[in-house]
Amino acid sequence: MNLKIPDVLITFEGIDGCGKSTQIEKLKVYLKRKDITFTVFREPGGTAISEKIRSLLLHETEEINPVTELLLFSAARSQLINEKVIPLLEKNEIVILDRFYDSTTAYQGFGRVSASLEDIYTLNKLASHQIVPDITFYLKISPEVANKRTEGTGKDRMESSGDDFFTKVATGYDMIASSNKRFRVMDATQSPETLHAQILKIIEDFQLSAV
Ligand code: TYD
Repeated sequence: MNLKIPDVLITFEGIDGCGKSTQIEKLKVYLKRKDITFTVFREPGGTAISEKIRSLLLHETEEINPVTELLLFSAARSQLINEKVIPLLEKNEIVILDRFYDSTTAYQGFGRVSASLEDIYTLNKLASHQIVPDITFYLKISPEVANKRTEGTGKDRMESSGDDFFTKVATGYDMIASSNKRFRVMDATQSPETLHAQILKIIEDFQLSAV
């Protein structure tokens, strides 16, 4: 593959334990080998301010009100998109995001029910400075299988939210995916190699359709 499409925004989504990090790592190795310029950011994070907010969100022991949580994820996003992502897209570069506003819809909207979906969509638009991904890979896996994968690993504040929460988050992702054409629903129970090959094929097809 020789990626030539300008300003592409690719996002990865899924519940904790879906294998996102492994797939992003494989894609990074592949793109580097092909000499393709790209940048990966994780959400929340990616700027000095957003990393500070991340640490608050994932490691704070004081109770965080659900609306505060929603606003903090959005604040971290606004900083990242404005400071880093938009300038890169304007330079026609490829940006890969390890989570984006679909995480907010799934986790805060469906999981926590922090606000109405309408309010969350409005906030997502504001915090993303109106940018929309070209492709969103949704690594779909059941909360039971994901839970087995993350068993024994130290859980952060979000990961400690319980089974019911993750069932609601997974349902949320399914609903968002079914109403958004940019979503590619991937069977995340497959081997990492198979999944990686499928992801590359989708990016390649996207490139062909864009020229
Ligand atoms: P992630 O970086 O995927 O976790 P890890 O580094 O442990 O693999 O995501 C951090 C957590 O924050 C994850 O549990 C999902 C959650 N999250 C939200 O609840 N809302 C959001 O808007 C975002 C971006 C993440």
